[in-house]
Amino acid sequence: MSASILFICLGNICRSPLAEAALRAEAERAGLDVVVDSAGTGDWHIGSPPDKRAQAVALRHGIDISGYRGRQVTAEDFRRFTHIFALDGENLKNLRQIRPVDGTAELRLLMDLVTGREGSGITDPYFGDEAGFDVTWDDVTQAAKAIVARLQEQN
Ligand code: 4NP
Repeated sequence: MSASILFICLGNICRSPLAEAALRAEAERAGLDVVVDSAGTGDWHIGSPPDKRAQAVALRHGIDISGYRGRQVTAEDFRRFTHIFALDGENLKNLRQIRPVDGTAELRLLMDLVTGREGSGITDPYFGDEAGFDVTWDDVTQAAKAIVARLQEQN
């Protein structure tokens, strides 16, 4: 079964769309066929494009995410995806609460895959300045590379 990966943050307009974009790019570079998506635990930004600052940092790395749209995670996601990665500990806690009993997806904290960053969350850049989005991009890129390495090991 090919891997399908869902990234979850709070609003689905800053961190998880960037994680989605970074993994799409790293998987393409590695020639890996993987389904990638993102969603939020919250419902404020359903149907919204990513935050302008998230769009800008992705574009600085050659990726246009203006067409992404926010959505809220559903119970069905736990059956549809093979892996669900929470961007921070609060998101993980919320996901554990809504996980259906027949959910099959592996549920983990994203940075647990990055050596030296285990147990840490990706800081929410939403209330900060533009530079915070560069930090987010670096973090999600490290995680995306780790996911690709893991998928290549499994292939
Ligand atoms: P995200 O950032 O979870 O990385 O998308 C946030 C975006 C919006 C809000 C919170 C976090 N908000 O409260 O509207």
